[in-house]
Amino acid sequence: MNNFTYCTPTRYLFGRNTESETGRLAKEYLGDPRKVLVVSGGSSAKKSGLLDCVTTSLRNAGIEIVGMEGIKPNPTDDRVYEGIALCRKHGVEAVIGVGGGSVIDTAKAIALGVPYDGDFWDFYAGKLTPEKALPIGVVLTIPAAGSEGSGNSVITKIDGLHKISLRSDFALRPKFAVMNPELTYTLPPYQTACGIADMMAHVMERYFTPTEHVEVTDGISEGLLRSIIAVAPCVFANPQDYDARANIMWAGTMAHNGICGCGRTEDWVSHFMEHELSAVYDVAHGAGLAVVFPAWLTYMANVAPARPARFAREVMGVPSTFDERTDALSGIERLKAFYRSIGLPVTLRELGVENADISLLVKKLHENKGEIIGGYHKLDAEATEEIYRLMV
Ligand code: NZQ
Ligand code: ZN
Repeated sequence: MNNFTYCTPTRYLFGRNTESETGRLAKEYLGDPRKVLVVSGGSSAKKSGLLDCVTTSLRNAGIEIVGMEGIKPNPTDDRVYEGIALCRKHGVEAVIGVGGGSVIDTAKAIALGVPYDGDFWDFYAGKLTPEKALPIGVVLTIPAAGSEGSGNSVITKIDGLHKISLRSDFALRPKFAVMNPELTYTLPPYQTACGIADMMAHVMERYFTPTEHVEVTDGISEGLLRSIIAVAPCVFANPQDYDARANIMWAGTMAHNGICGCGRTEDWVSHFMEHELSAVYDVAHGAGLAVVFPAWLTYMANVAPARPARFAREVMGVPSTFDERTDALSGIERLKAFYRSIGLPVTLRELGVENADISLLVKKLHENKGEIIGGYHKLDAEATEEIYRLMV
């Protein structure tokens, strides 16, 4: 097992009606701000009445609000610049995201940019490490990206379509996250499925590792994946099944708050490959992952089958044939069948990407992430091109 630091300073307030506590939480955990920026998405939080409930709770706590609406999925740098300018103009002291990963990541980027005199993109370009940001709070509406408990923020620079994930140990972790499973009842089935694929991928990126003797972390990861797969059908059968929604919501946080990576090297190639897909073709991140992961695993079944075989047996319930490659391939078939059963695509064509420009994807991938990538098994451009071809 490798040395590690594990820190999740976020206070999670989980359960029914918790959104009405946002004002109290902001006072207590965001440094008693006089004014906050409330960032939200397209329309869902407005339609459901959530935005009203959150702003009322903040006003009742004596906090003034500056609003910023309309953050789109796969959020872009232009909205971040706009948010930073708004915060400076109004003297905002904290940022609250009401929505999913796209909203929360934008809130994080704004919070990081306000106290920095230069261009906030310097952090995403890897020129600087985030050390301070305005305090961030979150009201989560979709279990998926795990941004409510992660130190990450993923933003696309419109110029050049560079989608970059910035990872910080502390500065970008929300001070609190309000998580009411009832807020996810309105999610369309496709978004619910995308979220499930994303949270599974967050566990899998950490599970596929060359590090040995990490049984505790393996056990947590396999248990999480099995639980997600077991509970998922209940959410689709009855979108208002509170307990199923609650389990999926908590799984999404556990998948990405770092616990599944403790003591081991992580992989992340599938995310890197997907980020190029969603940057270029603007597809939903989770749906992209349902296409990328089986292709990546198929490549691994040939070159490094040990972990894919264990995944097949321990997570997908494949009986052992004592041949790692055979077991791995059976596991991949079961994983694809699961994705399909919840309405996800497993090929680029099914994702709606006809004639993908694979050379462009490979070029951008290695420009953004380096010549050789991958923690489980090292891959060069020839290998990643082969993996993209397996997705067609
Ligand atoms: O904008 P609204 O109207 O709210 O609609 C959203 C959006 O269209 C909708 N939605 C959210 N909650 C809803 C709802 N619709 C009905 N009822 C609700 N309760 O869902 C759509 C998708 O929202 P989005 O925020 O984009 O989803 P998600 O949470 O999957 O975030 C995806 C983004 O996060 C990044 C992805 O790359 C992508 O840009 N990621 C962020 C990570 C992080 N910060 O740690 C890690 C991830 O790996 C990921 O890369
Ligand atoms: Zn993800």
